[in-house]
Amino acid sequence: MSQLFSPLTLRGLTLRNRTVVAPMCQYSAQGGMANDWHFVHLGRFALGGFGLVILEATGVVPEGRISYADLGLWSDAQIAPLSRIVDFLHSQSAAAGIQLGHAGRKAATPVWWRGGFNETDEEKVEYGYETWLPVAPSAVAHSDKPEYQTPHALTVDEIKATVKAFADAAIRADKAGFDVVEIHGAHGYLISQFLSPLANHRTDAYGGSRENRMGFAIEVSAAVRAVWPADKPLFMRLSVTDGSPGGWGVEDSIALAHELDKIGVDAIHASSGGFEGYALKAQPLYQVPLAKALKDAGIKSIAVGLINEPKDAEAIIATGEADLVAFARGALEDPNWPIHAHHVLDGGGDAYDLWPKQARGRIKDKDRALGLRT
Ligand SMILES: Cc1cc2nc3c(=O)[nH]c(=O)nc-3n(C[C@H](O)[C@H](O)[C@H](O)COP(=O)(O)O)c2cc1C
Repeated sequence: MSQLFSPLTLRGLTLRNRTVVAPMCQYSAQGGMANDWHFVHLGRFALGGFGLVILEATGVVPEGRISYADLGLWSDAQIAPLSRIVDFLHSQSAAAGIQLGHAGRKAATPVWWRGGFNETDEEKVEYGYETWLPVAPSAVAHSDKPEYQTPHALTVDEIKATVKAFADAAIRADKAGFDVVEIHGAHGYLISQFLSPLANHRTDAYGGSRENRMGFAIEVSAAVRAVWPADKPLFMRLSVTDGSPGGWGVEDSIALAHELDKIGVDAIHASSGGFEGYALKAQPLYQVPLAKALKDAGIKSIAVGLINEPKDAEAIIATGEADLVAFARGALEDPNWPIHAHHVLDGGGDAYDLWPKQARGRIKDKDRALGLRT
């Protein structure tokens, strides 16, 4: 059998295979609450054979949402609809992860699929429109584009409260039944803003040297690890490189990953970017070298970014470039990507077992009649 479809055990969790749905904001929630859109959108990935489905960036505080339509986990009332999704994923043998995040100075931005703040007054009421002043390490806007405000610079007390909010959200994620928490430390959002000299201009203990800039990421990880059950894996998503001049880079990420490893962060989800001037070229497998750099440094990693071909995903696992392979847009296009890839890599036979029981026999009949996947 292919390596891609071999199980992986992390702490007390065994994933049925190495395929992961990467977190994807849907901008479809009201008041941070998951609804039927999230249930169906996420449920189809479990039906499609993914090993782990990671829910979108979920605000640990209301002002940490990228937009007013993000999911949130700052309140116990938000647990039940998430729990319903988790239960369904589990019923289909997929593990459930949630990305806990804070957007920092990139909060209160538009619902991206709307293309801007173009809600009519009626739509504002219908969709629960909200806006607020974002916070950040320093009072510097992300860019001069109109959707980005100049943020309030967090005080030390506010930083400590934000660390606690991550831990409180992790407690709620456990109550909802999630198997994995992924802390969002990538893409120029709050943790990434603290890490990067492009956004962090503080002169206190949270700014200046790399060690100081890493402090917030480490405090958040330690606080989450302290409340997140010891038998459940904890991931951190990093922009392994900002890809912008003067920004955070691969060597910085390796140094941070070693510190996170000591705290009990089990894997790094290797992404990039999030600041103005990003210069990496989006092309097939373009971020795999970032996952490999972490692996070469002895850190478990998740590769993501324009991974499309089954043979490429297989090679990433088989050659040890990463431990897991994640898909975002490819999963949207084909929620059955894992089952299709399993057939490509492993033929018929046991590969049919990844189809839901309601479908597998009928699909086998169809394939036999057509002479496929023999
Ligand atoms: C619709 C959409 C929403 C996204 N939302 C998130 C998110 O909530 N958190 C995150 O870390 N990345 C987010 N991303 C980035 C993806 O997780 C992924 O890293 C990126 O799309 C590259 O992978 P791909 O080439 O397989 O799409 C999003 C991407 C898309 C397409």
